[in-house]
Amino acid sequence: LPIDQSGVWRFRDLLPIVDNPENAVTLREGNTPLYDLPRCAKIAGIDWLLAKHQGMNPTGSFKDTGMTAALSVAAERNYEWVACASTGNTSAAMAAYAARAGLRSIVFIPEGKIAWGKLSQSMDYGALTIQLKTDFDGCVRILTDLVNRFPIYLLNSVNPYRLEGQKTPAFELLEQLEWQVPEHVIVPGGNLANGSALAKGFTEMHHLGLIPRIPKISIIQAEGANPLFRTIEENGGRELIPVKANTRATAIRIGNPASWRKALRALRTTGGWCEQASEQEIALAKAEIGAEGVGCEPASAVTLAGLKKLVAQGKITREERVVLVLTGHTLKDSTYTIDYHRGELFNEAENAQISPADQTLHAAL
Ligand code: F0G
Repeated sequence: LPIDQSGVWRFRDLLPIVDNPENAVTLREGNTPLYDLPRCAKIAGIDWLLAKHQGMNPTGSFKDTGMTAALSVAAERNYEWVACASTGNTSAAMAAYAARAGLRSIVFIPEGKIAWGKLSQSMDYGALTIQLKTDFDGCVRILTDLVNRFPIYLLNSVNPYRLEGQKTPAFELLEQLEWQVPEHVIVPGGNLANGSALAKGFTEMHHLGLIPRIPKISIIQAEGANPLFRTIEENGGRELIPVKANTRATAIRIGNPASWRKALRALRTTGGWCEQASEQEIALAKAEIGAEGVGCEPASAVTLAGLKKLVAQGKITREERVVLVLTGHTLKDSTYTIDYHRGELFNEAENAQISPADQTLHAAL
């Protein structure tokens, strides 16, 4: 069966979301590789570091695991239209799965603020692709108004079925590690759904008695798009502090994240932390992951940048086992990579903020 080739639907017993899993809309998502990153481990000051590469999904990001689930529900409920607001990856995934299901899709993206590769995907897969002169948070507002007035199925990560799909990489990871639970899993934070989806996956495995404990899940934001980090620092997580977001890691350029409460709960129940990374730290971490022959998009590289900080703060120790979740493929944003390696990503003042140690490393890469 096609669903048996899907890294999501082979866990269908743990996904009670469609009446008939044989109707699942699948592109053979999931089953993504787990790579070791020995040089990055050394740079971060730990002995054992792996990357679960969710960028190796059919549309090049972790969003596919959620979209196969949610589109299957939309199709089973006979929706004709689906829609999302996106920084580019959700829209690419939605457009692809909608096309497979024979549904029409509408994409709202912030004009000029997403990577070209991602924009091209939603056009290629046939979505009605609309660029709006606003940011991601503005796109969400307009989309919400639209879905309230028309029978359109909403596919942003507030859709609970997406999170059901996005919990399955936790199962896969445990399988790949032969049920040896790592101490830490580190994810990037944008709209803040993914950390909680993975926490749910690990928690379910724990409740089923398959693992003795759950890993600490930490969430890393870009300094310029750090509402969760600020909220925790400034009011202990009581009330979200929205920010005017700006980062070159456009996937996570989000100032008013929908799922911040869920993310906070994931941090608290697993015992992980929230950190932030500067533009320079993100760029350097991305180059380091690239130099291992693995590569990822900028938003994914915050995980390595965050790891370095958590190790420096003593929150992660040398012998603990860490898994970075790389959320998107390096080809998603090739402009960023080329600009960085040509020395054009940062202006002089920004380059001056790269520490001497990092500059040496940079020169060596
Ligand atoms: N990494 C990548 C590559 C992403 O595209 C996103 C989110 C995240 C991390 C953050 O995940 O939102 O669950 O905290 N991208 C969304 C989009 C917002 O529209 O593609 P999150």
